[in-house]
Amino acid sequence: MNLETLILAAGKGTRMKSKLPKVLHKIGGKPMLCHVIDVAKKVGSTREVVVIGAGAEQIQKEISGVEFVLQKEQLGTAHAVLSAKKNFAGSTGTLLILCGDTPLLTSELLEKFISAHESSKCAVTVLTAEMPDATGYGRVIREDDGSFKKIVEHKDATELERKIREVNAGVYCADVQKLFNALEKVTNDNAQGEYYLPDVLAILKADGEKVGAYTAEYCDETLGINTRIQLAAADQIIRRRKIRELMENGVTIVDPALTFIDCDVTIGQDTIIQPNTYLEGKTTIGEDCVIGPDVRFTNMKIGSRVNAQFSYCHDAEISDGVTLGPYVHIRPGSKIGQNVKIGNFVEVKNSIIGEGSKLPHLQYIGDTDMGKNVNVGCGTVTCNYDGKQKFRTQIGDNVFIGCNTNLVAPVKVEDGAYIGAGSTITKDVPKNNLAVARARQTNIPNWNDKRK
Ligand code: UD1
Ligand code: CA
Repeated sequence: MNLETLILAAGKGTRMKSKLPKVLHKIGGKPMLCHVIDVAKKVGSTREVVVIGAGAEQIQKEISGVEFVLQKEQLGTAHAVLSAKKNFAGSTGTLLILCGDTPLLTSELLEKFISAHESSKCAVTVLTAEMPDATGYGRVIREDDGSFKKIVEHKDATELERKIREVNAGVYCADVQKLFNALEKVTNDNAQGEYYLPDVLAILKADGEKVGAYTAEYCDETLGINTRIQLAAADQIIRRRKIRELMENGVTIVDPALTFIDCDVTIGQDTIIQPNTYLEGKTTIGEDCVIGPDVRFTNMKIGSRVNAQFSYCHDAEISDGVTLGPYVHIRPGSKIGQNVKIGNFVEVKNSIIGEGSKLPHLQYIGDTDMGKNVNVGCGTVTCNYDGKQKFRTQIGDNVFIGCNTNLVAPVKVEDGAYIGAGSTITKDVPKNNLAVARARQTNIPNWNDKRK
């Protein structure tokens, strides 16, 4: 059956107390709304329409690959669905309704839910779950025979109804045209003065339609995020899931509780992740690496057999066999070649470091193109900025740079050149030359005796 999806994301998210629209808050390093869109696509939805209102421009800027419809005033979830009526005028089959603030649903659960709906021939089916703490959720009221009766919102519920732990997960499957017809009958005669989408189930039932309630096996998938406390809980769940998936695929995570891996990160077989490691954004890591302790990689492309500890690297590339750290900062635009060694308080920015080169202690290398097998002495600095403009430093292959060298860019050090320690290099150094650029030492005999 054709499956289309409507995602509700127009609410203000008042309980988040945030300037950011609720659905753009991140879990597992990705906006909640993206998780919801991803799962819809995964279960075979042919089209995703997202209802937006509060923070609409911001959401449109961040999210792509879906259709948007504007709900100008947020008069409730039923009103939100109705605002997309035109978008589905020609649709047939099943409409899946998801909430932008329910980001933990798995495709496994949704597939079961959708097929239960379609085989039951119900006009609408709601997903429910038994929550240990049902506060804030709509409660599912069942008939004596266990069949669905109605949903009562927390604020409208009696003391007795509030004791019910089976809740509405805010996820529905419906015959698209029957749903839109019934929506016209929803009123806002309730505690919040809102048009409630769950009311449509009782309306369809009263019209003689078959209405179903499908209970999820695990309640952590149906967690709705209304507060920052729930946001943190959801973040933990999604991270635990990610770590589990990685371990199942042959990655060692020494201490899962002290490891933070965003959901789009990939890691190769037999890589070991030591504690206190943060792998963020679109980071990819190859096989047989040892990463951590205390490493933060953001949007990094890391080869295989890389060893990194106590370091922060972002928006850069690191090739196979590189050793990093302790205390390395690799900044955007850098490409570190195979088997390079970088460690002990080194910063590299927007630079290419050729295969086998060594930056072992206390260097700043910025806007530099460095060749292969270069040995960079302790304390070397590229002076890449004159207060107005940035300039590049070019260093060839097999260059030896003595300790405490300043390379004042733009400057070129050709293949095989040597630079004496303590030099401030302002002119190009030709191939195989030795450059020494420091004051000659003067020794004054008996100076201390005379001073006395
Ligand atoms: C809703 C359900 C509740 C269910 C819970 C599950 C209603 C009336 N209540 O409650 O039964 O247990 O979700 O998490 O539906 N939205 C709009 N436009 C609006 C109002 C809301 O697009 O006018 C969107 C919100 O952005 C949000 C979703 O709908 O993504 C749910 O709204 P929210 O206010 O969070 O509803 P809950 O109180 O959580
Ligand atoms: Ca909610």
